[in-house]
Amino acid sequence: MNRGKSTAEVIVKSTSEDAAAAAANLFRKIVCQTVADRRVCNLALAGGTTPHELYEKLAAEVFDCDMPWPSVKVFFGDERDVPHDHVDSNYHMAQRALLDIAPVPPEQIHPMPADADDLNEAAEEYEQLIRRIVGGESEDTPGFDLILLGMGADGHTASLFPRTKALNETEKLVVSQYVPVLGRNRMTFTFPLINAARHVMFLITGEDKADAVAAILSKDEQRRKNFPAAFVKPTDGRLVFVLDTAAAKKTNLKIPEK
Ligand code: 6PG
Repeated sequence: MNRGKSTAEVIVKSTSEDAAAAAANLFRKIVCQTVADRRVCNLALAGGTTPHELYEKLAAEVFDCDMPWPSVKVFFGDERDVPHDHVDSNYHMAQRALLDIAPVPPEQIHPMPADADDLNEAAEEYEQLIRRIVGGESEDTPGFDLILLGMGADGHTASLFPRTKALNETEKLVVSQYVPVLGRNRMTFTFPLINAARHVMFLITGEDKADAVAAILSKDEQRRKNFPAAFVKPTDGRLVFVLDTAAAKKTNLKIPEK
């Protein structure tokens, strides 16, 4: 399946736990190779509930593998409009599951300021932080080494929800928007930033995602166009979907034996 220049890779595992383990292994390989090649790894974590098991697996192995955590810089692909110590915060979830355990220097962890008074100004500031730290001196769009994404049953990814303005953003890299279906504001990476990444990994599990997964993996543009995750098409980067059997059940993918 051609998407941008890259062809999506799909890994299907029997259970959500096996999918999280496969995602953890791929996460570790990408981070280790990136640091070996580039001395630093700039990554963006996903929110929601699915990645929690992945983060716990990474935390459980934090000291018995060669993960170069001190060389990792952590950003967030989206955030809710709550304080960073709020139970609904994506940062709070990642902090408790992983970042309080992995030895990433605190100054290298950058929560998204999605509860600021001026959300547009805060989004612009977060974008400038990314341009400075990830993009260096380049005027080009900063290329994250790894962006981890989840997907909702409606096909949203990060906080790029169906029928919202941010889907059509072609210049800004980070925006804040009101999401009617939630009745809340969200801050999010936009497609230009996501699609500039060297690696994008989706971790999607559960039967409630099966329709959206079948749609975004289909070749039928008419079917794909209503699902924002279908517009993740890394220009030059690698795109990987890590699924469990339940999320893959409506595709024609080979489902692993139990
Ligand atoms: C968020 C996430 C969002 C998430 C999907 C899936 O802030 O909610 O960034 O994009 O990946 O909503 O969420 P679950 O993993 O909870 O199903």
